[in-house]
Amino acid sequence: MADIKRLPRVEFPDDVRLDTLAVREGLPRTQWGENSEALFLTSSFVHPDAATAAARFANEEEAFVYSRFSNPTVTMFERRLAAMEGAESALATSSGMAAILLLIIGLLKSGDHVVCSRSVFGSTIKLLQGEFGKFGVESTFVSQTDVGEWRAAMRSNTKLLFAETPSNPLTEVCDIRALAAIAHDAGALLVVDNCFCSPALQRPIELGADLVMHSGTKYLDGQGRVIAGAVCGPQAIVEGKLIPVMRSAGMSLSPFNAWVVLKGLETLGIRMEAQSARALVLARWLEAQPGVTRVYYPGLPSHPQHELAMAQQRGLGGAVVSFVVQGDTPEVARRNAFAVIDATRICSISANLGDTKTIVTHPASTSHGRLTEEQRLAAGITQGMIRVAMGLEDVQDIQNDLDLGLAPLAR
Ligand SMILES: Cc1ncc(COP(=O)(O)O)c(C=O)c1O
Repeated sequence: MADIKRLPRVEFPDDVRLDTLAVREGLPRTQWGENSEALFLTSSFVHPDAATAAARFANEEEAFVYSRFSNPTVTMFERRLAAMEGAESALATSSGMAAILLLIIGLLKSGDHVVCSRSVFGSTIKLLQGEFGKFGVESTFVSQTDVGEWRAAMRSNTKLLFAETPSNPLTEVCDIRALAAIAHDAGALLVVDNCFCSPALQRPIELGADLVMHSGTKYLDGQGRVIAGAVCGPQAIVEGKLIPVMRSAGMSLSPFNAWVVLKGLETLGIRMEAQSARALVLARWLEAQPGVTRVYYPGLPSHPQHELAMAQQRGLGGAVVSFVVQGDTPEVARRNAFAVIDATRICSISANLGDTKTIVTHPASTSHGRLTEEQRLAAGITQGMIRVAMGLEDVQDIQNDLDLGLAPLAR
C-alpha cells in the first residue's frame, strides 16, 4: 500500500493559505505535464518484476498497488482535504456514511460506549444505535447544545464523542472546544461531522477535535454529482487503525468520484462564501414573513448560538436555512409545508444539500423519516419545518419562488 508520507510532494512554499491549498495540493504532475489533475481510472497497478511486486505488497517500497486501498487520484483528494482541514492525514470513503462506518469499526470494539448528539443526521443515529448496537457498541444521545449533558453521559468505557455542527436541519451549533475538553479528560476521541461548514468555514481540528468526517457528497463536490466521504485526522490513527480496515472491508472512494470531488475543492471557498451570503439574505427575508413562525440560521442574531457560530465558523452562517410554517396542529403544519414546497418552480425538491441548485426539503418525511416521531421531536423536527439548502441562483428568484406558497398562508 502506498505510504502517502513517502510519496513525493507538490512543491510550494510552506505557508500558503487555504484557497491555495484547495487548488494546488495533491501529487506532483506526471511526466506529461498536465495542468488539471490526472484521473487514474485503473483498478490495479503494474510492477516491473516479481521481486518489486513482492516488496510493494509487503509495504517495503512506496507504490500504488490496488485501488481498493490506494490510487493516485484518490491520494490527491486525500492530501488536499487533509491540508485544508489542518489534519496530518485523510482517508477517502465511498460515502459519508461509509466514513462513519470506517471510524467505528476502526476505533471501537464490543463493550465500548459512544456519546453522540441526538441532533445528528438520521442515518448516523440508525447506524450507531441499530447496527452497532447489535455488536455491543452502546450509544447515548444527548443535547446538541447542553455541554453538561455530554459530561453527565460519560462512562468509564466511553471511547468516542460524535458531534455534527451545525446540525441538520435545525442548524444548532455545539461548542467544539468544550466537547474536545470533555473527551480528552476521559481519554476519549472527539469526531466532528464537518459536512455543513466544510473546512472553508470551520476547522474542527484547530478547535481541539481529534478527527473530522465528511460527506463529500455535499459542499466538497458542491455540484450534486457524486457520493463521497472522508475521514481526516492524525497519521497514527489513519494509517494504524483505519487503512487496515479499508484494505479488508473496501469502503473506498472510486477514482472517478475522487477526481470530481478533488476538482470541487478548488471552488469550495468562493462557493461557501457566496452561498452563505445568499442564505443570510434569505434568512432575514423569511424572518419577516407572516406565514413563517420560526427561522433557524446561525448567521441571524436571533439564533441561540449566534455568537459561538460566528466565532467557530469564520463569521459565516453556512448555506442551510430552516424555517417553520404556521399550522395549529401537526397535520395542518405538514399540509402547509407541503404546499410551500409544491408551489416552487425553481427550487429542487430533494433531500440533498451542498449543491449549486437550491434544494427544498421536508425533513420530517424525508431525511429524518426513518426516525420515530418521538426521536424526531426530541431532535426538534416538527411537521411544519422546511429546510432550504441555498445554492448559487439569484437569491431574489429563490425568495419569489418560496413566496408562491408562503404568501397564501398569510391571508
Ligand atoms: C451531516 C451529514 N452527515 C453525513 C451524511 C451522510 O453522507 P452520505 O450521503 O455521503 O453517505 C449526510 C448526508 O446525507 C449529512 O447530511
